[in-house]
Amino acid sequence: MMNDSPQEWPEPIIRVQSLSESIKGSNSIPERYIKPISERPNSNNNMISDDDCINIPIIDLKGVYSEDPKIRALTLNKISEACKEWGFFQVVNHGVSHELMDMARETWREFFHMPMEEKQKYANSPKTYEGYGSRLGVEKGAILDWSDYYYLHFLPFNLKDFNKWPSHPPSCREVVDEYGRELVNLCGRLMKVLSKNLGLEEECLQNGFGGEDIGACLRVNFYPKCPRPELTLGLSSHSDPGGITLLLPDHNIPGLQVRRGHSWITVKPSPHAFIVNIGDQIQVLSNGIYKSVEHRVIVNSNEERVSLAFFYNPKSDIPIEPVKELVTKERPSLYKAMTYEKYRLFIRLKGPSGKSHLESLKSPPPSTN
Ligand code: OGA
Ligand code: NI
Repeated sequence: MMNDSPQEWPEPIIRVQSLSESIKGSNSIPERYIKPISERPNSNNNMISDDDCINIPIIDLKGVYSEDPKIRALTLNKISEACKEWGFFQVVNHGVSHELMDMARETWREFFHMPMEEKQKYANSPKTYEGYGSRLGVEKGAILDWSDYYYLHFLPFNLKDFNKWPSHPPSCREVVDEYGRELVNLCGRLMKVLSKNLGLEEECLQNGFGGEDIGACLRVNFYPKCPRPELTLGLSSHSDPGGITLLLPDHNIPGLQVRRGHSWITVKPSPHAFIVNIGDQIQVLSNGIYKSVEHRVIVNSNEERVSLAFFYNPKSDIPIEPVKELVTKERPSLYKAMTYEKYRLFIRLKGPSGKSHLESLKSPPPSTN
C-alpha cells in the first residue's frame, strides 16, 4: 500500500526550466533526455499524420441538453463513437466560464515564471507527489521527460491542503479552487452522459467510482523551450490511470499527440474547448467498451507551453472492476478488480509507460470447459 512508495527521488532533481535557460543558444541537450530512436517524435514507425483534416472529434455539449430529441440523440451518439474510437474528444459549450479558464492558465504561467527559490518551497517528493516536480517515475537512471509540473489535490476533502498550493501569484489559490469546483461539476455531468451511452442508469459509473467520495487532482505541466525537440518528448507515451481527464491546453501551441493505430495525431485545440479523455478506470468499468488511449507530448524550440490536466478519479480504496450489467456470457469480464490506490502505485514507480499497466489487469482467457 502507501508505504511501498519511495520516500525520496533517486537522483538530484534538475528543473527542466532552469536547464532550458542554461543551454540557451546551444544545439544539444543532456543525454538523460534523449529518447531511444523508436520513441522519438519523427521516427519512421511513429509516423506523424500531416493531414490537417484529421483531428479528434469536437462536440457541442449543449446538444446533450437540447429540447430537440434528434439533436440530443445525435450528440450522445457522437460522444459514444468518440469514446469507442478515439478515447478522446474536445467539448465546447461545456458551461465553464472562458474567463475562468484563461485566468487559471495564466495564473499557473505566472507561477512558473516566479523566481526558482519561490517554486522550490513547494518541491515535491515521490511520497505524495504533491507540489513542484520534474519527474514521474523513481527508477534510477531513467530517461527523463522535457517538462516540470505542479500537482495538487481538490478531493477528497481531507487531502485538500491550501498550504501545499502556491501562495503566489496571490490570486492562485482562489482561482484554482474555483476552477476545480467547476471541473468536478463538468466531470459529474460527463459521467452521466457516459453511463447513459453505455445503456446504464445515469448514476452507475459515478457509483462505481464510490459515489460522492471520488478523487480529483490537477497536474499543471510546464514544457520549456527545447533546442532539439526531435530527440525528446515533453511527456512520454502513457494512458491516464484515473477516470476522466479534462485538459486545458495552451493557446495555439501544438503539443499533445494521440495514438491512432500506428500513427500519432497532433491535436488542434479549439478555442476555449476542453480536451476530454477516457482514463484506465473507465476502460475497466466499461469492460473495455470505452478505450483509454495512449498519448504523449512533443516540445518545440520557439515557445514554452503550459497545460492543465484535471483528473477525476475513483475513491482510492474500493475495488474497481467491470460493472455487472456489462459482463455477459458473450462478453466476459476482461479485467480483474483492483483499487485505484494500488493501481496508481505502478505508474508512480515506473513513470509513463504506454498501456503496460492496464495489460497486467487482464483476466486470463476463460477456460473452454
Ligand atoms: C497529462 C497529459 C497532455 C498535455 O498530463 O496526463 O497527457 O498536453 N498532458 O500536457
Ligand atoms: Ni495524460
